[in-house]
Amino acid sequence: MQGLADKFVVITGAGSGIGLATARRFYAEGSRLLLIDISQTEGLKKAFPERTHVMQADVSDPKQWIEIEAMFRQQSIDVLINNAGITRDAKLEKMTEDQWQAVINVNLTAVFKLSQMAAIVMREKGAGVILNAASVVAHYGNYGQANYAASKAGVIALTKTLAKELGPYGIRVNAIAPGFIETPMVAQVPEKVLEKVRQKLPLGRMGQPEEVASVYAFLASDNARYITATVINVDGGLILG
Ligand code: CAA
Repeated sequence: MQGLADKFVVITGAGSGIGLATARRFYAEGSRLLLIDISQTEGLKKAFPERTHVMQADVSDPKQWIEIEAMFRQQSIDVLINNAGITRDAKLEKMTEDQWQAVINVNLTAVFKLSQMAAIVMREKGAGVILNAASVVAHYGNYGQANYAASKAGVIALTKTLAKELGPYGIRVNAIAPGFIETPMVAQVPEKVLEKVRQKLPLGRMGQPEEVASVYAFLASDNARYITATVINVDGGLILG
């Protein structure tokens, strides 16, 4: 992809799943990386021996935003990939306020805060890319995911708003809406639910993390220089229902 070598790329939730695949992809493209994860940081240090700083941090914890912001400034952030996300699935009547709030904090509030911190640096140099993890469930809802679906719908609205506000400063903002991708997150879903999902997939299979990472790489690259305010579904056609 054009224009990714030497760029300073920050990926949250880089410890596993789509985040890890995305880290591998940008590493292969020659980018400099800041990989943030709440755990699994020792493995990341071994897997990415060059051009990489690994930070153990909870992106939803305001106390950790100061250190994250300092890195954005120090290395002059070029690309922010707000990939970190959690699920706390439960039917509406059983969902606790803690389950609701934890998901909103990680999936939406952290995206707002890290985007704000990155945008200040990107505005100064008149260039930058912010990519956010939405989900297909933001479009059609999902049984047991009131918190998650609402947070991801929020991410889409936030993406479009930031694209409007930051476009004049040369900053592009886009989102990806993955469907069911073979990650540790999806591995927690009950098998009977996954079987129903498989039956609905026009491509007949779940996605691989690398198939999402390649779209992040495209959107971050100069090949996508006229694309902003977009949500790309990477869902094997699941949205057709
Ligand atoms: N549609 C309609 N009804 C459903 C349903 C569904 N998808 N799932 C459950 N129900 C109803 C059924 O009536 C079910 O009764 P049966 O025993 O007859 O099946 C009843 O709810 C009770 O279901 P559970 O026994 O599963 O209830 P629970 O309280 O133990 O668990 C749940 C509820 C946590 C929502 C569980 O069903 C679950 O984990 N579902 C999967 C949620 C899901 O799809 N998560 C996606 C995670 S991956 C991700 O989020 C990535 C992404 O971006 C897509």
